[in-house]
Amino acid sequence: MTMGKNKVTCDPPNRGSADCGLVALSEDALRVHRYFPTLIFSLEVPGSEILNAQLLEAIYAEREGDRAGVRKSNFPELGSWHSHVKLHKDVAFAGLVQYVDAASAMMCRELGYHRSYQLRIGTMWSIINPPGGLNRAHIHPGCIWSGVYYVQAPRNSGRIEFIDPRTQNLMSPVEYIPDTKRPRICWTKVQYKPVAGRMLIFPSWLYHSVGPNRSKAKGKDADRIIVSFNLSQKRRR
Ligand SMILES: [Fe+2]
Repeated sequence: MTMGKNKVTCDPPNRGSADCGLVALSEDALRVHRYFPTLIFSLEVPGSEILNAQLLEAIYAEREGDRAGVRKSNFPELGSWHSHVKLHKDVAFAGLVQYVDAASAMMCRELGYHRSYQLRIGTMWSIINPPGGLNRAHIHPGCIWSGVYYVQAPRNSGRIEFIDPRTQNLMSPVEYIPDTKRPRICWTKVQYKPVAGRMLIFPSWLYHSVGPNRSKAKGKDADRIIVSFNLSQKRRR
């Protein structure tokens, strides 16, 4: 059986299988309707090399001025540094803010949001995870959408993992065909490899975590560096 866009098709009955003896249905008899989707937007920022070089300098300078940083989903005892949350007010981050605003304007159109309102950045921060650094599972209360932009992402520096928000699914786990990739609609988690220059925007209520940075690069090249942000709907000025 395979699932197309909204059609479920059955393989021919296989004598001796559990399907044997079922009534025959036409291939388009059973339809699947998808509701309540969980959306994750992605954007490859054009010309990100130059932007990232500027951001890298600004983020390390920020850390120099605030070595303690703040504790959120990060673990300072593992060397993970989290900045304050008002970086969007800093001119050094204006280039990135422009891309966040452009992406969120496209989302507003796509999602049919009221034109008198816009998605606006409420908070923006940076995280540096050196080797060993990670982020526990968390959500971002008080906003609608959240995002992450990868400034530096060496190989094996930790994937972001999003967790199925339909926790009812955990009550009755389903047995799937072993050693076979499940249909995407049956996934209970999804991971993204960090790629410098890529932005992900996801619902703020969607639980996510970041795996440990296992980069083997030398010195600062091993740091996994991101800028993250929260978006809220505000009336246009
Ligand atoms: Fe987060």
